[in-house]
Amino acid sequence: MMVSPSLLAADFANLQHDIDMINRSDADMLHLDVMDGVFVPNISFGFPVLKAVQRVCTKPLDVHLMIVEPQKFVTRVRDIGATIMNVHQEACLHLDRTVQEIKQAGMKAAVTLNPATPVSTLVDIIGELDMVLLMSVNPGFGGQKFIENTLAKVRRLKALIAESGSNAKIEIDGGVNLETGARLTEAGADILVAGSFVFNSPDPISTIQKLRELQIKS
Ligand code: DX5
Ligand code: ZN
Repeated sequence: MMVSPSLLAADFANLQHDIDMINRSDADMLHLDVMDGVFVPNISFGFPVLKAVQRVCTKPLDVHLMIVEPQKFVTRVRDIGATIMNVHQEACLHLDRTVQEIKQAGMKAAVTLNPATPVSTLVDIIGELDMVLLMSVNPGFGGQKFIENTLAKVRRLKALIAESGSNAKIEIDGGVNLETGARLTEAGADILVAGSFVFNSPDPISTIQKLRELQIKS
């Protein structure tokens, strides 16, 4: 299992300390949650912080934009060194164009679905995507309870990816811990985002390691 710890749960008064921990850990990437107070009812951080994070972080940056009109920021997200740019399906009127622009900018293109947005909405674009991010909580806040329906969505998405011959990876975001993570692993997830479970744990490096060790049992 790949793991993308979410910086949203870090100590914002001591980001250097928490990013050093991520650098020393086996985390596969660092998940960065940008919120605009319009698409979601919260505001987190923006480009000045992303730029500072990029200077000290040695992991690939997995940028999750919870903002309206994310297509306006493709170049700026590329310029802060993002490896993956996640845009919400619900925020993109011309999703195909935005996905092409992200790829032309040299980043991996990921589309994020809110809990109530069906997987079937991706049927005509799945072949173009590097990753699909399924929200397993309503976006805007860390520390929320995992929505159980996500497991059925992972299975439906896995089937869609298989039948379309897409190479898209499946990433899950919200309420991830070892228990939900084990069930998501069985359902077919490839990457787990974890915020509070990692940063609030007594030993975040070993928590990341435990999540990475999750594998399909059957
Ligand atoms: C929520 C964010 C998540 C958040 C997850 O809107 O997209 O990435 O940090 O937090 P936890 O892991 O605490 O549910
Ligand atoms: Zn996120």
